[in-house]
Amino acid sequence: MTPIQLTTRVVNVSIGLCLGLGLLVGACGGGGDQKKKSNADPAVVAEAKQVWDTRCATCHGPQGMGNGVNAATLKTKPRTFKDADWQKKTTDERIKQVIVEGGAAVGLSADMAPNSDLKDKPAVVDELVAMVRSFS
Ligand code: HEC
Repeated sequence: MTPIQLTTRVVNVSIGLCLGLGLLVGACGGGGDQKKKSNADPAVVAEAKQVWDTRCATCHGPQGMGNGVNAATLKTKPRTFKDADWQKKTTDERIKQVIVEGGAAVGLSADMAPNSDLKDKPAVVDELVAMVRSFS
């Protein structure tokens, strides 16, 4: 093997390695634990998280288990969002409606108050739906 042939071979092997690694990294980096996260704008994600922590968690609990500090005072307790049957049966549209229009709008407890200010923030509402879904 001449030095030139050797160099070509080394280069070829390197390219092959990089491509292989690139594919691997791509495959590992993109999926898996990210599947429940949305592609939303980080500012929207942050706002939704803040809404959840300051408004929703007081009743629904930080992890959506229905055990927020105010839950005990409610006549109708919020369900746990871990309930797989409920997750399967309910639709994103209904979750959105409950969040924006309140429980009474769909025949649930009026203690679940409307969040009318979110009507103009569909991306934040979508992110809240994603959070509710992520508690499953
Ligand atoms: C004052 C307490 C309270 C707060 C604050 C509150 N909720 Fe609720 N929420 C409830 C109650 C109680 C129910 C259940 C009503 C029922 O089952 O009749 C409910 C129901 C829901 C449901 C529908 C669950 C189902 O059974 O279909 C969703 C989704 C929901 N809340 C999301 C939120 C989000 C998101 C926020 C914050 C923006 C929030 N809630 C704030 C008390 C609250």
